Amino acid sequence: MPEKNYSSLIEKLANEYRNHSPKSAQFQQRASQVLVDGGSHALRLIDPFPPRIRAAKGAYVEDIDGHHILDFWQGHYANILGHNPPEVTEVLAEAFARGDGLQTGFADMAQAELAEMICQQTGMDQARFTTSGTLSTMYAILMARAFTGRELVLKVGGGWHGAHLWGLVGVGHKQGFQHVDSVGVPEQVAQDVIVTEFNHLKKLEEVFKINGECLACFILEPVIGAGGMIPARRDYLQRARELCDQYGVVLIFDEVVSGFRYRAGDVGTLFGVHPDLITMGKVIGGGMPVAAVVGKKAIMGQVGIAQKNKVKFSGGTYSAHPASMLAAKTMVAYLIEHEEDVYPRLAKMSALLREKVLAVFLQAGVHARFAGVEKSILPQNSLHTLVVPFDENVVLDSPDTVLDPEVCDLPLTDKVLKLAMLLEDVHIVHGLGAMSTAHTEVEIDRIAKAYGRALEKIKPFLD
Ligand SMILES: Cc1ncc(COP(=O)(O)O)c(C=O)c1O
Repeated sequence: MPEKNYSSLIEKLANEYRNHSPKSAQFQQRASQVLVDGGSHALRLIDPFPPRIRAAKGAYVEDIDGHHILDFWQGHYANILGHNPPEVTEVLAEAFARGDGLQTGFADMAQAELAEMICQQTGMDQARFTTSGTLSTMYAILMARAFTGRELVLKVGGGWHGAHLWGLVGVGHKQGFQHVDSVGVPEQVAQDVIVTEFNHLKKLEEVFKINGECLACFILEPVIGAGGMIPARRDYLQRARELCDQYGVVLIFDEVVSGFRYRAGDVGTLFGVHPDLITMGKVIGGGMPVAAVVGKKAIMGQVGIAQKNKVKFSGGTYSAHPASMLAAKTMVAYLIEHEEDVYPRLAKMSALLREKVLAVFLQAGVHARFAGVEKSILPQNSLHTLVVPFDENVVLDSPDTVLDPEVCDLPLTDKVLKLAMLLEDVHIVHGLGAMSTAHTEVEIDRIAKAYGRALEKIKPFLD
């Protein structure tokens, strides 16, 4: 089925939205003068303009037009306890009050306590902190290349590891995944990256057979974000581990999204597969810019004094920033201590959310589905990507299928529904988004009703 054209509907919704949020609409004009497209992160710059937020609490954000928007984006999936949870903000407020929090340029104790917890929960030896998931995957790849003395980086097509040079190769969702997604990536870097397909065992074996001796690392998300938090098949990850062992390749799990999202630790453990390096970010930061590489001593040691800091994972003015470390330590300790409560609760509410939302779509006669729902591996899944496949029976087990506009109605979920739901004061991303512990049955009812009204409006344009 060719991609549908919703331009007249989108224009109609955009006009309604301008009337709904006049202050944000007006602010966009000012912001666009000095910021490219009015902001600094493409996903936040909703077309025709984003709601400008002045406060956020729990499941809601408040915009400058006075709307209390029910939010399922939750800080790019970072806010597992909702926006500005008191568990973290009170600790930060106390710290600031006693003169602790902003940058000192010294080593504090919180980072060691945080590292102890993360290492313990992942079974890894050592950690080093940085400020973004992007940097964590870049450093992980750098360490793998130094450790093996090899050049080639193997990744999965569509996998987003952040906007560093290796990460930008093969992030597109076009057929073949051959292209570099940003102008400016050096040809040499593009040549050093081999792109394979998620969950495609045969292709993986072929790549290793041909290039195994030259591969430095295989980096992948065990639950891939692109296309909808789709878990790898267990046998795929097991085989990846075996092949990496056989050919001496460093296996890196990018758990920037999945770390501490499905349990108080890494998600690899749920698959029974353990990589050599894990990258984490988002949830562990407690709302602050924190990311980590955790891994085996033999690889991590390359950044230390004993090996003359040969891998330069050592800068970063704001690395292990005091307030960030405090927030992260508080969040990680909370999740470990409340693991038996937080994750089952998220799972229960998420199951209810999916059930109620799908019922609304069914009633409206629109075949919707949640990508990535795989209860045997991820029983405690709280991330939700709603898709509308053209064929009800299609198997959606990789980004290649979900993100193919011939397979799923992408403009419907990413543009039309997004705007229609904003008019209901509900913010969704990729069809729905992230559940936090601040979302209750009240919010589930609210989003279900909002989808119902949005679908009524959209329905005449669907057939
Ligand atoms: C799997 C994965 N890795 C890395 C990154 C990059 O993290 P950051 O945006 O903190 O740089 C992201 C960001 O969304 C991600 O989803």
